[in-house]
Amino acid sequence: KCTMAPESRFDCARDRLLSQEECEERGCCYAPLPNSTGPPWCFYPSLYPGYEMGPLTPSTRGQAATLTRATPSYLPKDVSSLQLEVIEETAGCLHLTLKDLSSPRYEVELPVGVPQSKGDSQEALYTTEFQSDPFGFIVRRKSNGRTIMNTTVAPLLFSDQYLQLSTALASSLVSGLGEHYTSLLLDLNWTSLTLWNGDVAPHADANLYGSHPFYIVQEEDGLAHGVFLLNSNAIEVMLQPTPALTWVALGGILDLYVFLGPDPQSVIRQYLQVIGYPMMPPYWSLGFHLCRWGYTTTNTTRQVAQRMHNANFPMDVQWNDLDYAKQRRVFTFDPWRFGDLPEMVEEFHKKGMKYILIQDPGISSTSPPGTYPPFDDGLKRDVFIKNATGHILIGKVWPGPTAFPDFTNPETRRWWEDCIRDFHSKVPVDGLWIDMNEPSSFVQGSVDGCPDSDLENPPYTPSVVGGQLNSKTLCMSAQQKVSTHYNLHNMYGLTEAYATHSALMKIRGKRPFVLSRSSYPSIGRFSGVWTGDVRSDWEQLRYSIPAVLQFSLFGVPLVGADICGFEGNTTEELCVRWMQLGAFYPFMRNHNDKPNAPQEPYIFGKKAQAAMRSALNLRYSLLPFLYTLFHHAHTSADTVARPLFMEFPADSNSQTIDRQFLWGSSLLISPVLEQGAVELAAYLPPGTWYSLHNGQPFYSKGQYLLLPAPLDTINVHVREGHIIPQQEPALTTTASRRNPFFLTVALSAGGWAWGDLFWDDGDSLDTFEMGNHCYIIFIAGQSQVVSDPLRLNGALDGLVLGGLQVFGVPSPPLYVLANGDKVRDFTYRSDTKVLTVTSLALPMSKVFTVQWL
Ligand code: NOJ
Repeated sequence: KCTMAPESRFDCARDRLLSQEECEERGCCYAPLPNSTGPPWCFYPSLYPGYEMGPLTPSTRGQAATLTRATPSYLPKDVSSLQLEVIEETAGCLHLTLKDLSSPRYEVELPVGVPQSKGDSQEALYTTEFQSDPFGFIVRRKSNGRTIMNTTVAPLLFSDQYLQLSTALASSLVSGLGEHYTSLLLDLNWTSLTLWNGDVAPHADANLYGSHPFYIVQEEDGLAHGVFLLNSNAIEVMLQPTPALTWVALGGILDLYVFLGPDPQSVIRQYLQVIGYPMMPPYWSLGFHLCRWGYTTTNTTRQVAQRMHNANFPMDVQWNDLDYAKQRRVFTFDPWRFGDLPEMVEEFHKKGMKYILIQDPGISSTSPPGTYPPFDDGLKRDVFIKNATGHILIGKVWPGPTAFPDFTNPETRRWWEDCIRDFHSKVPVDGLWIDMNEPSSFVQGSVDGCPDSDLENPPYTPSVVGGQLNSKTLCMSAQQKVSTHYNLHNMYGLTEAYATHSALMKIRGKRPFVLSRSSYPSIGRFSGVWTGDVRSDWEQLRYSIPAVLQFSLFGVPLVGADICGFEGNTTEELCVRWMQLGAFYPFMRNHNDKPNAPQEPYIFGKKAQAAMRSALNLRYSLLPFLYTLFHHAHTSADTVARPLFMEFPADSNSQTIDRQFLWGSSLLISPVLEQGAVELAAYLPPGTWYSLHNGQPFYSKGQYLLLPAPLDTINVHVREGHIIPQQEPALTTTASRRNPFFLTVALSAGGWAWGDLFWDDGDSLDTFEMGNHCYIIFIAGQSQVVSDPLRLNGALDGLVLGGLQVFGVPSPPLYVLANGDKVRDFTYRSDTKVLTVTSLALPMSKVFTVQWL
């Protein structure tokens, strides 16, 4: 019974350290090993007693069974009878819930409007089997019999504040379970990850700002599946090399979704069918954003934007941090230093730029009554979170003592909208940056501490920064409309993002832009996310790639790290490399902390500036393509920044790579991540890849290539068979959106390529849903490129195709014809086999043909 291999042991003393005697009292095996890290010493024997499952009978949504246990587990407040429900949501999505049969418990409700998955007529991709005593289930992939989940490996535990479920894993290639500072593939060598939103600067082994209880497993032969535990309590996930995984949740119910793919992108789509597809960002928000804490006046802020402009750096959005606010109170602005904030914003708007400022949730509670309407009104409307005794809970953030809005209360959302509306009527901001929304507080629990209770000190607390669940945040016993903060903590940022998004939508009548630090499943529907207070160093630069890619898996495509680093001083070289990589973050913002050396592009030397300018111009030239990728994320749950394994799931090299990534399926980004490096070994998956820079082809068998990467270069390759829509860059997207388009056509070996363009006014609500958009596909083959406008609504009127470059044209053409007319301006290079056609003026809103003969 106790003879299993050490890596197959499941910890029986997870909740507390046990002596041999105590371990055996639990009926567990005790077998010390030379190391205290690694396999547990106290572990479950096989067939450890657990729940016994009754017969499965039809339920309203699927099938249900009752689970009962004869003797309670070793945990306090054990739940003796559970209800299991098994729901076949769709062919690719199996849904299992485990609840207390006799009394209701907190269950997560995602913000309204998530499309409910509907049963479909296709045959399920999975089969389910149950072991009745002790209860466990096995999910298999029907096509090949592979075990996707097997929970019979360890007992199911279900007590009031400790729910545990283990499963064997189909492979060791596991990603997800954010937010953590890790590589894309998680370390399965007896590690644990805590999901508990905290104001914690990214570093290893720490619970960071967001919680995403979702993982995806690559099944080695290119198939993939995913699992989502819809639970907002503190969660700890143990990973072991078996390979296996154990979920521990500190409350709620076990609400599990299993997604069968069968390919990685389908797994993400199935996940997003449950949590919602991402919002469509405004076009301008894909431009460059500049921010720092420490732009202390409107004039400083103006100068920054002006110096960017004078130095010819593309930039769309100027930001202000807390500096603008009077005594750091949100919804105010400082009359002395920011007295002409409204005028400044208007000036930016006249220049075709946008403006965003920070918005913390904490509302100062110490202004004299009658002087600070957000608090006075909030009090009247009863919008703030209460402590256990029903008084408003006061914490401490930047303005000093603060109350925290309870965004689960609809009245709070209305009050929040009113506050934003009032502020917006004075300062017409274009979006809001919602920070500190874990929520973060500088005192533990509240200024008055927290009561001593099982919520504040649960029988088991996973490893969290600060040691306790209420460290640097609110009391767990705090009361919100929907439930206790204990249950809702991880959703605070999500609920704020939802309220802010809805408010901005109503007030501005345009597509909202919200950037949030804290996150939870569904947030991508309302907001982008940045990765918080990263340090200005090379390691953080490198780890920003898996961080961004993980948010792609979580349905938050609009994501980026603070370029050049937030904490500490950057260096010129680091900042250049970070601007180059940042040019390929879906969300691109340079942001800096107060005490640090400046890091705006214009402060560096000439060469560094030139490198940054070219990275920015490259990004701006690619924005039509990036925007089209966001359209596909919004409408089809595709990823934007994409791990290589999504496109090349059966390629074993691609399965592990997280120093490079793709934009969509066609651009491969290979940044320099090491100090002093001027070349880099980049992996090119099988196929032909063309340097975006000069069209040079590489025929890869799936191999690493040493590429030159001098300081002015970021390597980007176009995949054969793809067409990238681009536009001449300009200093803002307002200007670039009027420039001529051009196409980069990367021919396949057979001379074919395909691409598309989504285009609309960039800012209106629901343009896709209402048909107010254009959608054009481009097809190349047989020595010509043709456009096929599938939908046209006017947004492209007056815009032209100015030219194209075709990569992989085997021999020099004699003529080039545009819509049948001979074109004079074209060149062909026989060394790279690139055909370049310029000086075209073909209306984008009409079918066009460009031929080379
Ligand atoms: C913490 C945020 O992470 C950071 O970006 C911001 O500058 C500071 N708060 C000040 O608002």
